[in-house]
Amino acid sequence: MANNEDQFKKVISHAKEYGYIFGSSEIYDGLSAVYDYGQNGVELKKNIREYWWRSMVYMHQNIVGLDAAILMHPTTWKASGHVDAFNDPLIDNKDSKKRFRADVLIEDYAEKIHQKAQKEIDKAKKRFGESFDEAQFVATNDRVVRYKKEQKEILERMARSLEAEDLADVKALIEELGIADPDTGSKNWTDVRQFNLMFGTKLGASAESATDLYLRPETAQGIFVNFLNVQKSGRMKIPFGIAQTGKAFRNEIVARQFIFRMREFEQMEMQFFVKPGEEMKWYEYWKETRLNWHHSLGLGKENYRFHDHEKLAHYANAAADIEFNFPFGFKELEGIHSRTDFDLKAHEEFSGKKLQFFDHETNKNYTPYVVETSIGLDRMFLAVMSNSLEEETLEDGSTRTVLKLPSILAPVKAAVLPLVKKDGLPEIAEKIIEDLKWDYNVTYDEKDAVGRRYRRQDANGTPFCITVDHQTKEDNTVTIRYRDSMEQERIAIEDIASKMEETISFKKWLS
Ligand code: GAP
Repeated sequence: MANNEDQFKKVISHAKEYGYIFGSSEIYDGLSAVYDYGQNGVELKKNIREYWWRSMVYMHQNIVGLDAAILMHPTTWKASGHVDAFNDPLIDNKDSKKRFRADVLIEDYAEKIHQKAQKEIDKAKKRFGESFDEAQFVATNDRVVRYKKEQKEILERMARSLEAEDLADVKALIEELGIADPDTGSKNWTDVRQFNLMFGTKLGASAESATDLYLRPETAQGIFVNFLNVQKSGRMKIPFGIAQTGKAFRNEIVARQFIFRMREFEQMEMQFFVKPGEEMKWYEYWKETRLNWHHSLGLGKENYRFHDHEKLAHYANAAADIEFNFPFGFKELEGIHSRTDFDLKAHEEFSGKKLQFFDHETNKNYTPYVVETSIGLDRMFLAVMSNSLEEETLEDGSTRTVLKLPSILAPVKAAVLPLVKKDGLPEIAEKIIEDLKWDYNVTYDEKDAVGRRYRRQDANGTPFCITVDHQTKEDNTVTIRYRDSMEQERIAIEDIASKMEETISFKKWLS
């Protein structure tokens, strides 16, 4: 996939043109970092959610679902640490008046050093060909060693300063590295300050009696406070998991890059409750399982990498991101966190209610440890969309725009097209739709020449086009055309559903 701004711009405009994503309340000039999903977007989003849900809940006998409310008792956020610690360090540029996340400025700087090292490695790979020993080169090449060391030192110093709340040193680091406002080049910075990311709201009608609430910044806390409800009512035994998808809200300082960082977004999270001491085994298990889930969609294994956290969140004893190669480079797509017993213990302390598991083997209660997998649905949407959009040059020199979405995720699975609008062909097409619509989202299109209709469906990501022509009336066969190969095949009408099933079944994709 092209790692460039152009591809990203194309994705954004394609998403709008084909009814995937619109800016929120656009007629009023929109609302920064808030987006609406159109007729195709809502389907793609639903399909990604379903793909995740099935892989988590249906594929694991010891994982169940939950749908907790967005609004929670305000003490939840005191206990979880979000009131005190859910902050981002922000810094303003005095000349441009723009606000940045101080840690992101430093991370971007470190990433550039990483890219320099990578360039050296790629050059050497080309030079030495087959005989290239990458590990040895990385360990011995002076430049690469220097770049890696520099990058590590910068990230470690930042992690130390943030951990110690030494914001003056974060600023000093920015100044020492000579980091400038990426848009204007100005190095005229304010001090670094902490900024809480939670959105506040009010519950109740009158000003005096209203209670201050927060819109949840993560779905995970709804799972923790329901841990015992689910465990008892579902007679769950450790290890077990609770999965949930739903909206989360964060007042992001720098919301940019389209739906990558939004103020209202959706998470798909799973908390896996384990015996204390076994968390590292499960942490590794979930890292691997989640990476396999991503690989199953076929977006290219080379587009994923793990990034171990230098600075751990206030609740974690180990954490890694699965990063994806977005058009603007490798960035976090999913987090896997070993959250210890931090959350359950904190909720016990603040609520005065026991949140423990009774182990019948040892006749003892204990507070389980938690391994969490947490992925942003919108971010996953962006990964899928940006990876799938292609401008293809065909053999005859013409080009086509094609959205090669994994077929299991495609919003519309098939378009049924009568070759002409007469001679009874539309009626046959309608009948085919009547039959397919029970299992698939299918569409009818009779406008324009069939070639143009194919191109329209290609750009929309529809994996199959089914064309009804005059021969259909004679022998009940149709042409099925495949989006990616553009190959066509003549098949019987009664075989359409099974042909589609061969390509679009959860069993095929998830196993
Ligand atoms: N419960 C753990 C948690 O919330 P996180 O790393 O802050 O961890 C998890 O968020 C995932 O949610 C991220 O990997 C990302 O995919 C998504 N996410 C976080 N903030 C987001 C935002 N502002 N816009 C879109 N997605 C976001």
